[in-house]
Amino acid sequence: MAPCARFLIAAPITLAMTTSPQRIALVTGASRGIGKAIALRLAKDQRHVVLVSRTEGPLNDVRHAIEQGGGQASVVAADIADAKAWAAAVEAVADKHGRLDILVNNAGITKDNLSLRMTDEDWNVVISTNLTSAFVAIRAAARPMMKNRFGRIVNISSTSGVVGNAGQANYAAAKSGLIGLTKTIARELGGKGVTANVIAPGFIETDMTHNLPQQVKDQVTGAMAVKRLGTPEDIAAAVAYVTSDEAGFLTGQTICVDGGLTMC
Ligand code: NAI
Repeated sequence: MAPCARFLIAAPITLAMTTSPQRIALVTGASRGIGKAIALRLAKDQRHVVLVSRTEGPLNDVRHAIEQGGGQASVVAADIADAKAWAAAVEAVADKHGRLDILVNNAGITKDNLSLRMTDEDWNVVISTNLTSAFVAIRAAARPMMKNRFGRIVNISSTSGVVGNAGQANYAAAKSGLIGLTKTIARELGGKGVTANVIAPGFIETDMTHNLPQQVKDQVTGAMAVKRLGTPEDIAAAVAYVTSDEAGFLTGQTICVDGGLTMC
C-alpha cells in the first residue's frame, strides 16, 4: 500500500514541473490565407505567435483577432526576400523572447510562365522569396533552438514541388528545394531536439488560387480523392500537429495535404 500512496501524492507535483514553457512561434505570410489560418490555430494552441509579412496593417488585424480570442501575438514587418534584413529580424525575435521554438516558413509567391518565356527576374524573385528566405530563417533560428534543445521547423512547400507543374519552373524548383533543405536540416539538427518537416498543400482556397478559371478548379477537384478544394484550416491542422511537443519523432517528412491528389 505504501508505495501506491506515495505515487498518488507525488504525481501532480511531477506533472506541474514538466509543463512546457509557452512556445514562441514565428509564422511568415501571416496576414492572409494559409499563414493567417496557421497563426490563428497556433495561438489557439497557446503559442505566442510572431506574425510576419511585408506590411504591418493587415498583421495588426490578425493580432487583434488573436488577442480577442484570449491569445498572444506580436507583429514584425519584414521583406523575407531581403536575406540580410530578414535574418536580422529572425535573430531579433529570438533575442527579444529569449527563445524561438517554432518556425513556419509559409510566405510564398508565384510568377508563372512557360519555361521558355520565363525571365531571369521572375526566376530569381521566386527562388529568393520561396526558398532562400527559408534557409536564412532556419540558419538564424537554429542556434536558439539548439540551445533550448527544442525546435519545430515547418516549410510550406506545394504539390507542385513534389510532382512538378507546367508553367511553374521557378515555383516548383523552389518548393522542391524546400524538401531537400528540410531533409538536410532534419539530419543536422535531429540530435538536438529540433525537427524539420514539409507540409505540401494541394489546391487551397486563398487569394493565390482565387483567380483560377472554374474549369481548372473542376478538373483538379475531379482528380482528388475527397472531391473538394482544401481550406487554409486544413493546412493549419497539419502544422499544429507537426509543431506540437508530442511530434518529436516525426522529422524529415513531406506531408501532402492535398485531398488525395498526389498521395505522395
Ligand atoms: P497568399 O498569396 O494568400 O499569401 C501569401 C503571404 O505571404 C501574404 O501574407 C504575403 O504578404 C506574404 N508574402 C509574400 N511575399 C512576401 C515577402 N517578400 N515578404 C514577406 N511576406 C511576403 O498565399 P497562400 O495561398 O496563403 O499560400 C501560402 C503558402 O502556401 C505559399 O508558400 C504558397 O506557395 C503555399 N501553397 C499554397 C497553395 C494554395 O493553393 N493556396 C497550394 C500549395 C502551396
